[in-house]
Amino acid sequence: MKKNPIILLVDDIPENIQLLGAILKNQGYSFALTTSGKETYKLLEKVTPDIILLDVMLPDEDGFKICKNLKNIESTKDIPVLFLTAKNDTADKIKGFKVGAVDYITKPFEELEVIERVKNHLQAKLDRDQIKAYNKELEVIVDQRTNALLKKERENILAQFIQGVVHNIRGPISSALAASDLIQAMRDDLNWKIDEGIDKNELKKEMAEVWQILELNNDVLRKMSGNLESMLRKSRTDQIQENDVYDLNEMILQELEFLDVDLKFKNQVDKKINLSSEPLAVFVSLGDIAQIFENLIKNAMDAMYEIDNPNIVIETGSSKGFNWFSVEDNGNGIPENIICNIFDPFFTTKALQADKNDINAPPTGTGIGLQFCKKTVKAYNGKIEVEEGRKKGAKFTVFLPAFT
Ligand SMILES: Nc1ncnc2c1ncn2[C@@H]1O[C@H](COP(=O)(O)OP(=O)(O)OP(=O)(O)O)[C@@H](O)[C@H]1O
Ligand SMILES: [Mg+2]
Repeated sequence: MKKNPIILLVDDIPENIQLLGAILKNQGYSFALTTSGKETYKLLEKVTPDIILLDVMLPDEDGFKICKNLKNIESTKDIPVLFLTAKNDTADKIKGFKVGAVDYITKPFEELEVIERVKNHLQAKLDRDQIKAYNKELEVIVDQRTNALLKKERENILAQFIQGVVHNIRGPISSALAASDLIQAMRDDLNWKIDEGIDKNELKKEMAEVWQILELNNDVLRKMSGNLESMLRKSRTDQIQENDVYDLNEMILQELEFLDVDLKFKNQVDKKINLSSEPLAVFVSLGDIAQIFENLIKNAMDAMYEIDNPNIVIETGSSKGFNWFSVEDNGNGIPENIICNIFDPFFTTKALQADKNDINAPPTGTGIGLQFCKKTVKAYNGKIEVEEGRKKGAKFTVFLPAFT
């Protein structure tokens, strides 16, 4: 046994205490002693023993009641309890098991029996503790890795966002520059025509063309400014992490506008948007829902890689106290034998890294997208479901508690 285990002996009969105490001491165990229910509860507030040896008859409360209470307290419920019962008292033994004891030691005490039973249950308890500790460590490692990967994912999204901004501005700027070049050229031409005394109507015609180009330019600049505003709005709302009441329909529309930055999504995917006609209030952080939606869309896009007529159906609705949205694609679908694993951390069927020389390289992934979605949705007391038994494509639905 790795650490020095602590045994709590609860008994008020001096001979028992002496005998059991001597046996335990001989085995090198440390033990604490209490002689009533009251004393036991008090001691357990300060000390957490590895095992409790509990007598049935105590001056204030009987052992069964004490055991039942300890099993209802978070800090003591996992400590194994062994009852000290009379040899022939089957009823007490059964009662002990019913209130949560793991075993009993019969009186009069047989040294070997005491040693064996205490040793076995202690070992089992310490093994359980170790497994719990390993699980905790593992959870911390998984969380650290997930956070690192999420950071990377955010960085990728930021890079994509910047590319989107550049893309959205580069085109209109070129048009505006070309238009002003043209106006400049027309100014020279007009000056020449004025100097030459060309007909007034001819000049008016050319001036009208200049105004037309200027108007077009204004439209281009206004559109560009609108794009910038909407992208800025989106990047600001992403940073707001406090929960607030939002309409799921509006959130989805705003996200779709942002996702249009991806030209493939914008131009090559047929999208059907069936939003509920009623507002769907949810109390959430906008950034969280945006990330869930982006993950589902990215998965759908990945699944439709190399599909001829990619299409996505996005729907919202409400049912049984939940407001929901769903993302459905007509991609390759999810094979039946992996559908139970897709929400596990780091489960992916995609390549981890793309071949940089291949512009048509298949999609890459780290396997944290759906795990993130599940964890986040759970934190809102919602759920995420994947449709099973499909022959083609995939459909994910996210349910969030309706805000009333
Ligand atoms: N729409 C979908 N169609 C087909 N398979 C899907 C779909 N969504 C998820 N999957 C399957 O579930 C797996 C896990 O998805 P998840 O989003 O967690 O990770 P990933 O997309 O592989 O990587 P990451 O999201 O970290 O970039 C995917 O690798 C894929 O096999
Ligand atoms: Mg994914």
